[in-house]
Amino acid sequence: MSERHDIAFTLNGKPVNATVDARLNLADFLRHTLRLTGTHVGCEHGVCGACNVLIDGRSARSCLTLAVQADGAQVETIEGLTEHKTIADLQREFVARNALQCGYCTPGMLVTAAELLARGKPGRHEIREALSGNFCRCTGYQAIVDAVEAVALARAGAKP
Ligand code: FES
Ligand code: FES
Repeated sequence: MSERHDIAFTLNGKPVNATVDARLNLADFLRHTLRLTGTHVGCEHGVCGACNVLIDGRSARSCLTLAVQADGAQVETIEGLTEHKTIADLQREFVARNALQCGYCTPGMLVTAAELLARGKPGRHEIREALSGNFCRCTGYQAIVDAVEAVALARAGAKP
């Protein structure tokens, strides 16, 4: 029988207390236990970025993070970022610029971009670098980079 641990952390601004299997990853805990299915799972081994969430403000692969590692942390998922309107401008730009097609990569892209935009005004090269760990099978990336760049400029008070 596997070991179980009590964990307590903040998720999207609300406290979460649970007892979890030591081997349970954070992506599965979010999706299967808490039913927060906005966090997507693609590769399940840290390659695609679909599962990215913010842990203490830094984007992290929830498929490579154990749920027990979230103990004591501030975790934000796409649901929280959406509900708190943290990325409403970014989501509008994604829609306006057709930066999503099937949408499978989109939550991870938005989470990664949210972290980047929170750090300042990234240039195009920096945006490409930051998103290089997020795979998209549909868009060809151009519209995604355009959307993030437009928000960076708009937040800095410049016209896109
Ligand atoms: S599902 Fe986590 S990186 Fe692909
Ligand atoms: S929109 Fe389909 S994988 Fe990115």
